[in-house]
Amino acid sequence: MADSKKWVLMATAQTPTNIAVIKYWGKRDETLILPVNDSISVTLDPSHLCTTTTVAVSPGFEQDRMWLNGKEISLSGGRFQSCLREIRSRACDVEDKEKGIKIEKKDWEKLHVHIASYNNFPTAAGLASSAAGFACLVFSLAKLMNLKENPSQLSAIARQGSGSACRSLFGGFVKWIMGKDENGSDSLAVQLVEEEHWNELVIIIAVVSARQKETSSTSGMRESVETSLLLQHRAKEIVPKRIVKMEEAIKNRDFSSFAQLTCADSNQFHAVCLDTSPPIFYMNDTSHRIISYVEKWNRSEGSPQVAYTFDAGPNAVLIARDRQVAAQLLRRLLFFFPPNSDTDLNSYVLGDKSILHDAGIGGSKDVEALQCPPEITNVPAQKYTGEINNFICTKPGRGPVLLSDESKALLNLETGLPK
Ligand code: DP6
Repeated sequence: MADSKKWVLMATAQTPTNIAVIKYWGKRDETLILPVNDSISVTLDPSHLCTTTTVAVSPGFEQDRMWLNGKEISLSGGRFQSCLREIRSRACDVEDKEKGIKIEKKDWEKLHVHIASYNNFPTAAGLASSAAGFACLVFSLAKLMNLKENPSQLSAIARQGSGSACRSLFGGFVKWIMGKDENGSDSLAVQLVEEEHWNELVIIIAVVSARQKETSSTSGMRESVETSLLLQHRAKEIVPKRIVKMEEAIKNRDFSSFAQLTCADSNQFHAVCLDTSPPIFYMNDTSHRIISYVEKWNRSEGSPQVAYTFDAGPNAVLIARDRQVAAQLLRRLLFFFPPNSDTDLNSYVLGDKSILHDAGIGGSKDVEALQCPPEITNVPAQKYTGEINNFICTKPGRGPVLLSDESKALLNLETGLPK
């Protein structure tokens, strides 16, 4: 190791978040984070939702430290410690000839790291930030420490940070295989198809405004495992069959089957939450309204146009068959949930704004002029202004990438502290 205390070596990565279409809910091992069933997710386009993480190492660092969105947070939790331990034990020799730095495998045990992480979406929005966060931590540290592991092997490390994080190591559609081994070595994620495989899909996330204090996924699923008989039945009898059908639907780009399975699995996950004692309510009236509108529309079309899925919170993730359907969906959503008069449309519809253009909506006048969708027969249809905080238009996206542009780094190359 070069003995100057001055050098800092860094790596910066960007990692997507993911939304499950067959849900993970329930662990058979709390420490190793081993699930009771397989799950399948779609990775979301990181240009709209992602975590960026810079990791740095220097002989000058006195302890491991981490900053999340600019604020220092503790790394003492078991999950961080598991990830750091697993990564350090697999670290390899690193040499940067230009900077005259040589780190040997054995040095990594003694060297401390600084980690700075930033979400390009509000953490408070309740969008799976821990999934992208742990995946990015593991991916960037693996690059810095020159791990030889493939993405699936890295996913088994990210899994120990947060279960759903293991699925963020890949783009496209991803399956987390529950595995059988007691040590968790075969509980890892694999890519089913790349994002280009089904690039017609458009995803619109409705971020719901009124938010009660939610039960965390970790404690919620613990209570479900302890008290819900439906969870046992789901894990043993339902999910294995659904996984086979879902893989088939994805492979064949069979939207009808995909949507039917996605909606049914989201509804069953929330049924398990209701079957938990005491019951857990993640969806609220706004979530339920969105489900009814989508169900009515799908029914009136004769085949599913949009799939919905909800995680451990009230936000709706809506997956549209194609762009044309997404534009019609956005018109419907804006009709039922117009922005408050003081909210600018530009800050109400985020992400891929070209869907707004496809929907023929240029400004608030166009929103006011929207007509009630034909499938709604109980006239006058009610509007729910202010129930939605914003919409994010996105699509299936790619897996983690290393950012070589040093200006993207979140830590200062001289000091190793946040910029
Ligand atoms: C409802 O991965 O957040 O989003 O493993 O305890 O960290 P921990 O839980 P987490 O649970 C996610 C649950 C879910 C469904 C899913 O993503 O599959």
